[in-house]
Amino acid sequence: MIASAPNPQKAHPDAIEKAARILKQGRLVVMPTETVYGLAADAGNAQAVARIFKVKGRPSFNPLICHVASPKDAEALVNVTPLAQKLMAAFWPGPLTLVLEKRPDAPVCDLVSAGLPSLAIRMPSHDVARALLKAVGCPLAAPSANRSGRISPTEASHVAQDLADDLGKDVGLILDGGPCNVGLESTIVAVKGEALVLLRPGAITADQITDACGVRPVGDQSGTITAPGQMLSHYAPDAAVRLEAKTAKHDEVLIGFGPIKGDLSLSEDGDLIEAAARLFSCLRSADTMGKKKIAVAPVPPHGLGLAINDRLRRAAAPKNNMETST
Ligand code: TXA
Ligand code: MG
Repeated sequence: MIASAPNPQKAHPDAIEKAARILKQGRLVVMPTETVYGLAADAGNAQAVARIFKVKGRPSFNPLICHVASPKDAEALVNVTPLAQKLMAAFWPGPLTLVLEKRPDAPVCDLVSAGLPSLAIRMPSHDVARALLKAVGCPLAAPSANRSGRISPTEASHVAQDLADDLGKDVGLILDGGPCNVGLESTIVAVKGEALVLLRPGAITADQITDACGVRPVGDQSGTITAPGQMLSHYAPDAAVRLEAKTAKHDEVLIGFGPIKGDLSLSEDGDLIEAAARLFSCLRSADTMGKKKIAVAPVPPHGLGLAINDRLRRAAAPKNNMETST
């Protein structure tokens, strides 16, 4: 029998304590967050962080998000500008990641930011993630707990499936905190002086950000990929994906939305919050239904629908460049 990741454990207080001990020993823990499950390591321990890349099968060292227990803890890691402070006050704890200038004395190994002068930080709102951060007492570097190029896990069982091989043996514990209620990764915004650059659309919309701080995030115009999650072929299921489908062809599973029923549905009520929370698990389920293709009903391109469509386009893109998928 090959060694693989351990079975998920319900995130009771003693399991959280155990997880904190495992992290302090430089080993990895899968933790639930409100967005997706994360594969966590002590951000100050370069060997532990390197193990994340090994388990994910990531071909390159993409920068990781550092999870913190409070805005105060963020101050030890990055230079928090007044604009960043406003955003933290409005959205933390919650699914907004801020990319800020890394402090030279930040107690975080270089591998976390892949040598960049900036660092991505976020304070998750999930009770289990917060309890774990408090128990371990250090920032946790954590990418989504999927294998590189696969769909982000929104349930502990997804993680166990993804890591059920030899690479998974580096994971000390999978904490099961139930299904993630947001289900989409965090929005990533780089704070550049008085300007905001949207690096990844996500659970918090550009409109919400603009309302909270008076600054509208602009799209990334640099032409270079600053958030590799932006690669087109990201989040790909095994089956080919066709978008804007009203009906299924004979070799397709149809994922419905609202009035378009489908074999399974993102949200029968046409509710975008429910659709976001179900997106990745629907793609996973559709992938296991034995059809060659997945057709997806149209999802309206406003509010959370923007981030949902962004992920769907990536799922549908040709899988010719998985190199930097996270
Ligand atoms: O919701 C989330 O954000 C989840 C949970 C676990 O917190 N995490 C997550 O991490 O989605 P990951 O590694 O799958 O995606 C992080 C993204 C990557 O696209 C990475 O390139 C970008 O954040 N990123 C990290 N540090 C960055 C930096 N300094 N500058 C620009 N992009 C950065
Ligand atoms: Mg990811």
